Amino acid sequence: MSPETASQEETESGSGKNRSRVGGRVTLRGDLRLAVPDAAAAFGVTAAVFVFLYVRMGSGTSATVAVMPFMDDPRTYWMYLLSQAFGWSALLWAWGTVMIGLLVSGTRPERLRVSPQTLERWHRTTSLTTMALMLAHALMFAAELVRYEAQLGWAERLWAAFADSFVPGWYDSGTGQIAIPIGQAALYLAVPLGLLFYVRHRIGARTWRVLHRFVIVVYVLSVWHTLLYGTNVWYGEWPRTVLWLLQIPVAVLLLARLVGPARRSERLGKPGSVRRLPWWTLRAAGRVVVAGVAVALLVVALSGRDGGRERPVEPPSTSPHPHHS
Ligand code: HEM
Repeated sequence: MSPETASQEETESGSGKNRSRVGGRVTLRGDLRLAVPDAAAAFGVTAAVFVFLYVRMGSGTSATVAVMPFMDDPRTYWMYLLSQAFGWSALLWAWGTVMIGLLVSGTRPERLRVSPQTLERWHRTTSLTTMALMLAHALMFAAELVRYEAQLGWAERLWAAFADSFVPGWYDSGTGQIAIPIGQAALYLAVPLGLLFYVRHRIGARTWRVLHRFVIVVYVLSVWHTLLYGTNVWYGEWPRTVLWLLQIPVAVLLLARLVGPARRSERLGKPGSVRRLPWWTLRAAGRVVVAGVAVALLVVALSGRDGGRERPVEPPSTSPHPHHS
């Protein structure tokens, strides 16, 4: 989740911007410093979402409680709520950084009055913030599990919470058996794909660029994980519709980026030679698939056939997932 064009970023200059560089190169340490205001805003958003979820749980309108009635107590489950809040800010920041990244690597709309250098900087800082938020989301879930497994000794408690949250395949209850590994895959891919930017002088700019493209997979996994597991988007109600609708601009920008990449060498053009035809066909097919996805997203959102369940009139009788023994 870092910018596409090293060449543009090398030309960046101006007050305050060069503090993130050593010998003309952007450094992680410098970008971490630049990310402070962005991260502060993200924590503000997280706090607002937390309060919202807390109040909803207290007032009996929480979808989470409708799915899991035993959670009808925000004072006990505040860490779970905080985990959810970090999940939402992580997803929002992931959305933002992907959108900015696509603007950097695609053709920028003329109306956009932000310089490519500024966009790149925003892309770098928001991607660092996204990683921190994703980690905070998983850590708060682990913290809630530590609280929950009170019958175990401390070592087992910490291990059970760590394994359930961070070891793929360990969590063995309900939808989480699939949804949690998807979230873990998103987190574990985001970190190297994002941070490789800072060592691209070692691995080569081309290798970095090729690897960095896979960051879109991180985003798709994050959205998939949320649609599958988020109890606040469990039912076919407005939050789920909004989540689907938010994916349309991403698909449109991705298509625009593929059709009009900033780098001349990435334009589709003509196949050139018969030898290049399979590769050209693959790239052309990619554009058609993304266009199809954009249309499909619109159909899903407008038709309401979005995988949301019907909210039951009577709350289901559920219990927390079994304690580890
Ligand atoms: C180690 C990785 C992860 C773990 C253990 C994890 C765990 C969970 C759990 C247990 C839930 C269910 C909460 C609920 O009841 O709604 C959840 C939901 C969610 N997760 Fe994750 N997750 C991980 C990675 C991610 C990533 C990478 C994102 C991306 C931004 C993300 C975003 C969300 C969102 C937005 C929700 C919905 C929360 C809600 O409904 O209020 N998660 N996650």
